[in-house]
Amino acid sequence: MRGRFITLEGGEGAGKSSNLEHIYRRLSSAGRDVLQTREPGGTPLGETLRGLLLDRGQSAMADDTELLLMFAARAQHLAELIRPALARGQWVLCDRFTDATYAYQGGGRGIDNERIRLLEQWVQRELRPDLTLLLDLPVEQGLQRAGERSAPDRFEQEQAAFFQRVRSAYRERARLEPERFRIIDASQPLAAVQAQIDAVLDEYLAETA
Ligand code: TMP
Repeated sequence: MRGRFITLEGGEGAGKSSNLEHIYRRLSSAGRDVLQTREPGGTPLGETLRGLLLDRGQSAMADDTELLLMFAARAQHLAELIRPALARGQWVLCDRFTDATYAYQGGGRGIDNERIRLLEQWVQRELRPDLTLLLDLPVEQGLQRAGERSAPDRFEQEQAAFFQRVRSAYRERARLEPERFRIIDASQPLAAVQAQIDAVLDEYLAETA
């Protein structure tokens, strides 16, 4: 049987890294064979593209170039890693996927959703995540947390208004697909965030058992 495809999404400073580890452990200890990966990246070629996409030196990158590189990395990721893993019955836990493209390239950069949908259909065909956890928190709070970290990459250097559009686009995605999305209130302390995540995962594990 095909494995499940679970994605984790959220804006800057939402706590994706710590929560990703938590999700991985929870699913593994429930006996699922989990492959953890990320976008952009996940394959040697994808990680090379990630380097270009995040490089602050690439300040001349056009929005369409950025969009196409995201999907180029995704096409490689699907072919080399995600589809084979799902076919083997593994569960794939991915740090960001196409919802991030709707949020950052669609919401943030202002690219028409219809263009993104076209590429999504081309590159993914029928494949969509089975479950998506969205770590949601006010932009100011996220930027404050993120600001405590290292030098900003090409996305992190954007202004608050950009991240407001990213957040709105994510929330709109969740509103349109309530079956697939679970919104996690990431403004709370880590333990409370993880309790919400546990509740979602326990329900999902029971549903899919
Ligand atoms: P990360 O910070 O979660 O590692 O992701 C790297 C950056 O890439 C993050 O700022 C969001 C951005 N991104 C997009 O703009 N579009 C996409 O489709 C993906 C997957 C990530």
